[in-house]
Amino acid sequence: MYKLKRLRVSKAMRDLTAQVNLGIHNLVMPYFVREGKKIRQPIEAMPGVFRFSRDELLKEVEQLRLAGVHSLILFGLPGEKDDAGLKAYSENGVIQKAVRALKKNFGDELAIITDVCLCGYTKHGHCGILKRQKAKGKRQKEFSIDNDETLKVLVKIALSHARAGADIVAPSSMMDGQVQAIRQELDKNGFSETAIMGYSAKFASNFYGPFREAAGSGMKFGDRKSYQMDFRNSDEALREIEADIQEGADILMVKPALAYLDIIAKAKERFAVPLAAFNVSGEYSMVKTYCKSTVHSPQSTGIEKELALEILTAIKRAGADIIITYYAKEAAGWLKKT
Ligand code: PBG
Ligand code: ZN
Repeated sequence: MYKLKRLRVSKAMRDLTAQVNLGIHNLVMPYFVREGKKIRQPIEAMPGVFRFSRDELLKEVEQLRLAGVHSLILFGLPGEKDDAGLKAYSENGVIQKAVRALKKNFGDELAIITDVCLCGYTKHGHCGILKRQKAKGKRQKEFSIDNDETLKVLVKIALSHARAGADIVAPSSMMDGQVQAIRQELDKNGFSETAIMGYSAKFASNFYGPFREAAGSGMKFGDRKSYQMDFRNSDEALREIEADIQEGADILMVKPALAYLDIIAKAKERFAVPLAAFNVSGEYSMVKTYCKSTVHSPQSTGIEKELALEILTAIKRAGADIIITYYAKEAAGWLKKT
């Protein structure tokens, strides 16, 4: 009989033989930035997550740094929207101003990632420019996204983020060719050192609900299934990832994370490129809400810490090098103490 329990008898023995250890340095904290001053607005669907005005974001990021986290990803809420996404690449857009302020305050001590998409900036809420409809009756029933028109806007957004000082731009609209188009535009304009994190395998997931409330990016009609991936597919995920590598992505991503650990594992096995996993809003809210409820026994206080760290460790064990999670700051605090 193999006595496998021998290595589990004490914490010291377990720690000694632990294969995967979550590191604070691999965590990325997402933030929602809005216009205004002195605003720290709670998001109902995401307990513990806020929309910050720029001044408050700076204070918050100071705390994040003290917790030991050195990377963040920004999502913007523009004051106004239009269907061309003009505010997404404006020099004085909400993200551009926030990135400049963060760079001024924290310099290179912070790895700043910006989400490059249109859904938060268009009135219809889709991630791209809509194709003109031929008159087809009164109501708009079908719609389609113009891939190449969208690319033209995405490159402008990415360039404006790079100009503001973003270290990594992360196109998330799932347009074909988005990484290549952005790489070319950045290089042409002297930003060859700005990195690209592709949202390579982004699934049309039901776990994005709370995010859409937070970012005000829900779509007015239709769904995202014609551009985000079908959750029944894994070969296609690998093809998406391969395309991103060929197009010049520096970091790849699988999103969501928890229901997609198989994709993370396969991607890591196949490709020797830094891999990120996005532990998305719905996954976060599920855990938060569960931990706030009373279904578990009273003696299991600390369940949230244990549960969150179990999930994040599992994502790392599956093969993620970088984990984007709304738990980043809290997890860093917990990890420091263990
Ligand atoms: C924008 C974007 C979304 C998320 C990240 N970037 C929403 C979406 O595609 O609808 C989701 C993040 C989360 O749920 O935490 N395209
Ligand atoms: Zn989008």
